[in-house]
Amino acid sequence: MSYPYQIGSLSEYHEAYRKSIEDPEAFWAGVASNFHWRKKWDRVLSWNFKEPNVEWFAGGKLNITENCLDRHLEKLGDKPAIIWEPNNPEERTRVVTYERLHKRVCQFAQVLRNNGVKKGDRVCIYMGMVPELAYAVLGCARIGAVHSVIFGGFSAQSIADRLEDAKAEFIVTCDGAYRGGKDIPLKSIIDDALIGNKLVKKVIVYTRTRIPVSMIKGRDVWWEDEMLKVTDTLPVEGFGEAEVMDAEDPLFILYTSGSTGKPKGVVHSSGGYMIWTNYTFVNAFQYKPGQVHFCTADIGWITGHSYILYGPLSAGATSIMFEGIPTWPDAGRFWDVIDKYKVNIFYTAPTAIRSLMSFGLDPLKGKDLSSLQVLGTVGEPINEEAWHWYDEHIGKKNCPVVDTWWQTETGGLMITNLAGITPAKPSWATLPMPGVQPVLVDDKGEEVTEKDADGFYKGNLCIKAPWPGIIRTTYGDHERCRTNYFATYDNLYFTGDGALKDDNGFFRITGRVDDVLNVSGHRIGTAEVENAINMHASVIESAVVGFPHDIKGQGIYAYVIVSGLRGDEAGTRQDIIQTVSRIIGPIAKPDKIQFVTGLPKTRSGKIMRRILRKIAEGETANLGDTSTLLDPAVVDELKNGKL
Ligand code: WT7
Repeated sequence: MSYPYQIGSLSEYHEAYRKSIEDPEAFWAGVASNFHWRKKWDRVLSWNFKEPNVEWFAGGKLNITENCLDRHLEKLGDKPAIIWEPNNPEERTRVVTYERLHKRVCQFAQVLRNNGVKKGDRVCIYMGMVPELAYAVLGCARIGAVHSVIFGGFSAQSIADRLEDAKAEFIVTCDGAYRGGKDIPLKSIIDDALIGNKLVKKVIVYTRTRIPVSMIKGRDVWWEDEMLKVTDTLPVEGFGEAEVMDAEDPLFILYTSGSTGKPKGVVHSSGGYMIWTNYTFVNAFQYKPGQVHFCTADIGWITGHSYILYGPLSAGATSIMFEGIPTWPDAGRFWDVIDKYKVNIFYTAPTAIRSLMSFGLDPLKGKDLSSLQVLGTVGEPINEEAWHWYDEHIGKKNCPVVDTWWQTETGGLMITNLAGITPAKPSWATLPMPGVQPVLVDDKGEEVTEKDADGFYKGNLCIKAPWPGIIRTTYGDHERCRTNYFATYDNLYFTGDGALKDDNGFFRITGRVDDVLNVSGHRIGTAEVENAINMHASVIESAVVGFPHDIKGQGIYAYVIVSGLRGDEAGTRQDIIQTVSRIIGPIAKPDKIQFVTGLPKTRSGKIMRRILRKIAEGETANLGDTSTLLDPAVVDELKNGKL
């Protein structure tokens, strides 16, 4: 494969950027012409941010899996598409070539068809990180079914909510999953999620851990049995045929947290998303044919969708899929994987770097790491200390580090340096990708034109115009998409992040400005955690804020009012933590719980989170103006009772 749209120098970056802004249609038509279309588009772009309505390559017909698989077969058929590293390093590696992946995806596509799945149907995927997860995702895409992958750490209740929201009729899962020293009983969690669900018709179960599971007659079928029915020797009519999709047909739904209500289903398109993940993969990481790419994310998150599967596979790359965790059996695991497969591009989260840093340099002894050429980070702001540790001890000061800012809603990278092409600046995401027009606005939506005391422009980060990977809607509720992203400021997409800009036009993302937390690179809405805490029988009211956490970036701090603390405080604390874990999942467990008798509210009943945040951060001296509080005395209690 060659990538005529790969940017090769700083001047080429500036040139590409200029063209992408001056004439986006010509620019993206040029990029898109390198892909396999069943029919060419009628129009490259039409859009308005009012409804919003964005269409890229309208009228164009394609199937993303033909671009990820079929078109590589001739030249790359025997090259590894996916190399799977099991949780347990003693277990056998699985190498899935492009040819094998193509075959498995076609087979599983046929299994889905045999089980009644049709184009447009929603299929929920709740699996561990095994190659079959990739077959399931791509199998859905092959037949035009809309996949909705749910991270294996979410609870039965979270799955139930997502199933209902997506009106999903099909589930693909595993009996269980291995993660570090833990076994997660996925099928049994699905069984709990399905209590009371009337829509789900079929559950396909892949055997991974062999823990006993209960199979419901007529509803639950084994993956292995179904695959046997579509053996290589017995092709059924239309076997593995790719559904022809419109560029704007939905490819998948992925749920993500916001500042209000339950998680929303972000919908991505088939054509624009494909172009965006491929373009950003090839340019930011400067992927060269033959390189091995290792993105450590789980496919349950957007990073895994875009940079384990669709981006690398559409580029014909070899993508590592790792089932385990960075600290098991020991804190040298990532480095072992890098050496074992001679990884060239390594992409992980700052929280993982900070966590591995805390083990010191011992786990690096005897690791070679000389195959590495490019390093990347994603998910949260990276502190300078972690950036330098990564650069020095992992990259040996010999690998560009790309700090990639983006979101579930953006589909792919938005603001990032391009490895070795544009300059890096520690803790700065730096420059926008071609096609991305960031702007900083004040609370009224006016562009910030004056620098602050430190010499930076500072404001709320918005984007002025659509890029191919932009969110198209929130599933089943377009109005929610409008109010969440397009209604805060006229004619702008609002990211929810705050940022700084320097004189070079470099951006530094400072973090969320809304009620969304970023815990270990995972997005969690404070309202969601509050709702879960409030489910506990003794809880009257709660308020959740973030606080700085050395490893996680942000930790979860909950102020809780309980009625008549029976028994011990510690016990109630544990109960509340358990409740959150059951309602949302372990990732949303509060790190600190402070029992209080009141919350700081204004006369209109609004909680002043600013005060709660300051107290949680330990900044009790300067709480700002508290005169509008209904009961200013409550502040002293909060301060004195600080954990
Ligand atoms: C939020 C999006 C997109 C991949 C994983 C997270 C934060 C993401 C960076 C970065 C500073 C970052 C933002 C953003 N974020 N990357 N390089 N520097 N902050 O996806 O769950 O949709 O979360 O993650 O706050 O809004 P997500």
